[in-house]
Amino acid sequence: MNDLPNPDLIYDLFGGIFKPQFIRIALLLDVFTPLARPSTAEQVAQACRADSTGIQTLLDYFVAAQILEKHGDRYSLTLTAETFLVRGRKAYAGDMLLDYTDPKMYDSILESICTGQPRSLNENFVQDAWLESYSQTRIPNSLEMWKAAGVRPEDKKPLRLLDLASGCAIKSFALAQASPNLRVTCLDSADVLDVARDLAARMDITSSVTLLPADLFTADLGDSLFDLALVGQITHYLTPAQNRDLLRRIHAALTDSGTLVIDCPMSKETHTESSAFLNLFLWSNGGGTAHSFESYRVWLKEVGFQSVTQLSERWLKAEK
Ligand SMILES: C[S@@+](CC[C@H](N)C(=O)[O-])C[C@H]1O[C@@H](n2cnc3c(N)ncnc32)[C@H](O)[C@@H]1O
Repeated sequence: MNDLPNPDLIYDLFGGIFKPQFIRIALLLDVFTPLARPSTAEQVAQACRADSTGIQTLLDYFVAAQILEKHGDRYSLTLTAETFLVRGRKAYAGDMLLDYTDPKMYDSILESICTGQPRSLNENFVQDAWLESYSQTRIPNSLEMWKAAGVRPEDKKPLRLLDLASGCAIKSFALAQASPNLRVTCLDSADVLDVARDLAARMDITSSVTLLPADLFTADLGDSLFDLALVGQITHYLTPAQNRDLLRRIHAALTDSGTLVIDCPMSKETHTESSAFLNLFLWSNGGGTAHSFESYRVWLKEVGFQSVTQLSERWLKAEK
């Protein structure tokens, strides 16, 4: 049997396309906005200037996908749709979904592969931050990361944490919520920091948080100002030279016994499907790549960190 061709591998190559394209169609029609009030398929069709049978079939699909609800002949939004899919709401993520499902994006990846020139990085970091800020799993997962790094929330001594390219900063806010003595400084662009501000309020830690709108590549991070630093999900977008420069500034910004935690996919000898996907995606969007633990170790030692320890497949800590 082993030498027979496997059609399932072929089905698998395109089976995942339908859901993303159906949400693209729904967003382009903007079916979620009229549903802010429970409506029939006909009412939605009218608002979207589309055919009512077509709209009904589309809405039924999103009921089955748990994005909408249906009671009698009326459709309404789930809390998820209401939060992320209604244009104009603060956490609207539709533009990010439209970017990722846009055929133009894949034409430009094709172009990158033909020419060897990655397109410039063009991610919707603001909408990504809004989604992330509601993640149910991120808080326990982040506490796990801090524990692996030897940072204990119950520590009584005051600690200052610098979260670089923080996004919504949920990873450091998880620690701040558990540690009243922790002060977090979040560095990111001003529009992303609006999300961090909102999340800090939702987590009731506003007084422990400072927002620092700045450019990661040029920001002066100061001298010995922080006990801890976190760099999450950004170093794989950066070139080795950019990483070296960033790590040098972080080293200077940490106190003598300071610790840096890096949370990022790291390359391994052999790829899994998801690590190979990530590399293709990163390279074609901005020329990034998952660097190896060994590369991080060399860069961190070069800039003066004394010890570098891999904590898991994607976490490492470096001590000054
Ligand atoms: C993938 S998100 C990671 C967010 C968060 N650190 C985490 O671990 O989930 C990358 C973040 O880097 C920020 N970023 C990218 N380039 C930046 C730059 N030049 N200066 C400041 N922030 C930047 C983006 O705005 C975005 O919030």
